[in-house]
Amino acid sequence: MARHVVAPVGEIAPGGRRLVEVSGRRIVVFNLGGEFFALLDRCPHQGGSLCAGVVTGHVESPGPGEYVYGRRGEMVRCPWHAWEFDIRTGKSWFDPRRMKVRSFPVAVERGAALQEGPFVAERFPVMVEGDYVVIDA
Ligand code: FES
Repeated sequence: MARHVVAPVGEIAPGGRRLVEVSGRRIVVFNLGGEFFALLDRCPHQGGSLCAGVVTGHVESPGPGEYVYGRRGEMVRCPWHAWEFDIRTGKSWFDPRRMKVRSFPVAVERGAALQEGPFVAERFPVMVEGDYVVIDA
């Protein structure tokens, strides 16, 4: 899996999202209070765009007549048929063991470190001998 720089941190505000295209795939990056998560922008049901979905929380009930609204801003609801997914894991709310949207690892890295980069091209010594350029490979 190759690394791709998709945006400066400041361009995706807390609670916000950004749609990016990486290697031909549409991926939506969410900022949950400074933590970043990336999901494939394709609902596993029929392909709705999760980037266009409503970000919400979910309701849990410890018992009849009681409910708690929690995890505010950590669920995304598909705009087509309202399936909901956990932004942190990609798991669906209704069947988390079997139904999930693909998620991708996300990291925040300093710009200077990216400039240096971990990737160095293979180098070879070069010498000029008479009129010929020679490469030792
Ligand atoms: S396409 Fe997403 S819920 Fe149907």
